[in-house]
Amino acid sequence: MGIQISPSILAADFANLERDIMAVANAEWLHVDVMDGHFVPNLTLGLPVLERIAQVAPMPIDAHLMIENPDHWAPRYAEAGARSVTFHYEAATDPTAIARDLRKLGVRASVALKPGTPVEAVLDDLKEFDMVLVMTVEPGFGGQEFMPGMLDKFRALDAAAREQQLDLWLQADGGVARGTITELAEAGCDVFVAGSAVFGSEGPGGEVDALRNLAQHARDGRPKPRESRRARD
Ligand code: DX5
Ligand code: ZN
Repeated sequence: MGIQISPSILAADFANLERDIMAVANAEWLHVDVMDGHFVPNLTLGLPVLERIAQVAPMPIDAHLMIENPDHWAPRYAEAGARSVTFHYEAATDPTAIARDLRKLGVRASVALKPGTPVEAVLDDLKEFDMVLVMTVEPGFGGQEFMPGMLDKFRALDAAAREQQLDLWLQADGGVARGTITELAEAGCDVFVAGSAVFGSEGPGGEVDALRNLAQHARDGRPKPRESRRARD
């Protein structure tokens, strides 16, 4: 799987969501941030809204759950129509059990790490996951500044996935933009969430293509053994 762009609707116009979703119909995924006002100090949307978005969006939904008790809630988001469900390691009682529940429902299972959580938390269980989301800002709000200190996490996860020959995608979320995407791609990131960079631009669809091109260009210079991994979908 090559480079994938996942625009975050957190930066879209919530009164014109369908219009804004259609403006990025060329994106591989649509990133939907679910916040509960407890795990993070912000509140966004929940199951009924995600379910409706999944019905109208032309691309698959990439749900990012910044909520407590993902052990209970994560499978509900798969049932609501998300094709990839990301829950936070810090909020989970049993991350491996959640991932197995998600895979059983036929969706991609993904675990997210806050900036303060080291990759060692998941290194021994990488085979249980289809993707690791490395937060490159503190979760809760869009428009924050990218944390370059997170690049080493991508390098470590990329090395571990290659060594274990895993079909593991690596996602960056927070502060992804033209100025940061190249170093992320060079560090091993495959899937790029971008909110304000896409929806704050003059042409969101064009920005998606521009970001993908930059990442692809950076990726062209890297060895690609992870391409030989088994594709899950
Ligand atoms: C933040 C969210 C992000 C957010 C990214 O907690 O998880 O998905 O929308 O926004 P930008 O791209 O503006 O940093
Ligand atoms: Zn997110």
